[in-house]
Amino acid sequence: MPTWCQAKITDKKIWTDGLFTITIECPDVQNFDAGQFLQLGVYKQGREGDEDGIINRPYSVASPHGDQLQFFIVVVPEGELTPKLDALKVGDPILVNDKATGRFTLSKTPDADHLWLISTGTGLAPYIAMLRTEEPWQRFKKIVVVHGVRHASDLAYTDELNAYKEKYPGKFELVQSLTREQSDTALRGRIPALLASGQLEKVADCKLSATTSSVLLCGNPAMLDSMEDLLNNRDMIKHRSKAPGQIVLERYW
Ligand SMILES: Cc1cc2nc3c(=O)[nH]c(=O)nc-3n(C[C@H](O)[C@H](O)[C@H](O)COP(=O)(O)OP(=O)(O)OC[C@H]3O[C@@H](n4cnc5c(N)ncnc54)[C@H](O)[C@@H]3O)c2cc1C
Ligand SMILES: NC(=O)c1ccc[n+]([C@@H]2O[C@H](COP(=O)([O-])OP(=O)(O)OC[C@H]3O[C@@H](n4cnc5c(N)ncnc54)[C@H](OP(=O)(O)O)[C@@H]3O)[C@@H](O)[C@H]2O)c1
Repeated sequence: MPTWCQAKITDKKIWTDGLFTITIECPDVQNFDAGQFLQLGVYKQGREGDEDGIINRPYSVASPHGDQLQFFIVVVPEGELTPKLDALKVGDPILVNDKATGRFTLSKTPDADHLWLISTGTGLAPYIAMLRTEEPWQRFKKIVVVHGVRHASDLAYTDELNAYKEKYPGKFELVQSLTREQSDTALRGRIPALLASGQLEKVADCKLSATTSSVLLCGNPAMLDSMEDLLNNRDMIKHRSKAPGQIVLERYW
């Protein structure tokens, strides 16, 4: 049973309808590593205060440890929890467990010259947390963030990510892709197709290879499966402590 803490929503940024970042104040959450996840929950109607009446799901923390934590969330229209989270406003209470878990962290990522952080949708969240720490900038010569979404309005965090290009010249690339509309600044197509066609590496100005790259994959499980297949063909395999590889995965559903 998780230990639940009562937190308060202190900010809510709406990127587009159904896609938002909430900031919650919760000093009781124990220290954790960027990339780990916490459970967020709300009480079912009429079950306030009853731990058996909590609806909860895991969410990557989109910020490093601190008194204020952020979560980047998309509404699954037929889902049980996300429409309820979407309805919460600044000042409302929310439940969070006190201990983050998960192995999708840089400490579980092998060393390499290049770090590829590949995501669809809200799978970007753990990377935002990692990039706000010093570790990736000290450990890797180059970092490439790949963010694939349906529409340009889903491209959250673009300003923050672009700022890294200026802060770390030559060390950071952002590749955004859209699947359901055209744009002058993003590629068009799903991430695995863009890797297969060579466009991804061309725009990133960086090769994905077993000798130079560590690859993190997060978000839509079908994207993870297709990417893993393509990377296996390049002799890149899932990283395990007893059998080192290059790929680390976080499956959202
Ligand atoms: C480790 C981990 C970290 C996660 N981090 C995040 C995060 O940072 N942000 C975030 O928005 N979600 C995240 N998720 C997904 C989240 O836990 C919930 O599954 C999601 O919010 C849906 O919850 P729900 O109760 O509204 O839908 P449910 O009633 O639980 O599910 C409805 C169905 O929707 C599908 N589904 C779940 N998530 C999605 C999605 N994003 N897109 C399409 N279909 C989906 C599933 O197949 C599920 O059966 C994470 C999941 C895991 C396992
Ligand atoms: N603004 C929003 O994002 C928004 C707002 C409200 C509600 N929702 C709901 O939230 C849920 C999740 O939507 P989402 O857009 O965040 O996530 P998603 O459906 O996982 O889509 C994110 C990106 O992943 C791509 N993708 C899907 N399958 C793939 C595969 N097999 N290989 C590679 N890429 C793949 C999608 O391409 P395709 O376009 O080709 O599928 C899209 O570009 C949906 O139920 C949606 O209706 C989203």
